Amino acid sequence: MPVPLMVANWKMHKTVPEAVDLVQDLLPQIREVRDVEVAVAPPYTALHAVGKAIEGTPVELASQNMFWELEGAFTGEISPGMLRDLNCRYVILGHSERRQYFGDGDGEVARKVNTALVEGLVPILCVGETLGERDYGKTFEVVQRQVLSGLDGSVVDRGDELVIAYEPVWAIGTGKTSSPGAAQEVHSHIRGLVKSLLGEETGRDIRILYGGSVKPDNIDGLMAMDDIDGALVGGASLDAASFARIVRFKGM
Ligand code: 13P
Repeated sequence: MPVPLMVANWKMHKTVPEAVDLVQDLLPQIREVRDVEVAVAPPYTALHAVGKAIEGTPVELASQNMFWELEGAFTGEISPGMLRDLNCRYVILGHSERRQYFGDGDGEVARKVNTALVEGLVPILCVGETLGERDYGKTFEVVQRQVLSGLDGSVVDRGDELVIAYEPVWAIGTGKTSSPGAAQEVHSHIRGLVKSLLGEETGRDIRILYGGSVKPDNIDGLMAMDDIDGALVGGASLDAASFARIVRFKGM
């Protein structure tokens, strides 16, 4: 059983002072927690300051996106080296909001995942079906396509080099969550896929996170499932006490 991972995705929230306040509020509330890894993903502008605030703590820094080129004339983009420079360990890639609003298709996501792996960052590859796809019974098909295409051309040797996040699009920011049992079915399907793709051991060790309206009152049920190894948390991570409760899920 891999070490659970809880990731706070702050999305486009928080100025620099607000972000530092939030992480400083969070740190004492999770100080006693052992055997759970925690990462925070502030907006780009706050990565440096939040990185400084978590120095010397076990909390890891994550970026919400990245470009696949190493440098060049790409106005407005951020390279893997720039993220490594700030001590980022993780990078969220293929989030449904990037797919929906910013043109990140399967091909773009695969290039980003590939570059992140080569450049020593740990991609958090996000996958998940829309409401329409779910209603048409296409959940497994969509998730399978996104996992396979997202990893196309990439080499993953160990389970700690990659994280996958299953975020049903209809559950993001809506207050609706997948039932733990339904999420487990998708997670188990993803686990099977990565095992056949990357080998039994690597597939077993990869963390598969659940995301989509994760809150203090539903985290325990989700974490009780065999193939749910953590959470990617949006709204509830903007409140230090809520996120701390998620990190301290029951069963810990
Ligand atoms: P919410 O927790 O606000 O539903 O967001 C989920 C998400 O998109 C995390 O990446």
